Amino acid sequence: MPKLTVDGVGTFDVPEGKRMVLALEDEAKIDQLHACGGNARCTTCRVEFVAGEPDRMTAAEKQVLTARGLTGVRLSCQIPCDHDMSVRAISRLAGSGRPDAGSRPADEITPPPPQWVPK
Ligand code: FES
Repeated sequence: MPKLTVDGVGTFDVPEGKRMVLALEDEAKIDQLHACGGNARCTTCRVEFVAGEPDRMTAAEKQVLTARGLTGVRLSCQIPCDHDMSVRAISRLAGSGRPDAGSRPADEITPPPPQWVPK
C-alpha cells in the first residue's frame, strides 16, 4: 500500500491507485477543497509536493495549470496514489469562505479516460 504523507497531519496507508483528493479526505481526514468535483477545472484541489511528485500528469491537469499560469502545484484530483508521496495541503475549506468543499469526486479520475503526458 502506498503511503501518503500530509505535512503537519501525518502519514497514511492508501489503497493502491486511489485518487489523492479522496485519500486526503478519507485517509488523512482533512477538509480538502475540490470545488469542481474532481474534473480538472477549478484547481482548488491543488497540493504542493514535498517528495514523490509524479513525473507524468493528465492532459487535463496540464491544460488547466498552463491556462492559469500555475507552477509549483499539482491537482490532487488528477493523481492516483501509486507510490509513496508527501504533500502540503494548501487549499482547504477552513478559511476559504466557501460553503462546502465541493461534491465528492468519483472513484476514477475524471474526465475519462485520463490521457497521460509528461509533466
Ligand atoms: S480541479 Fe477541481 S477538484 Fe481538482
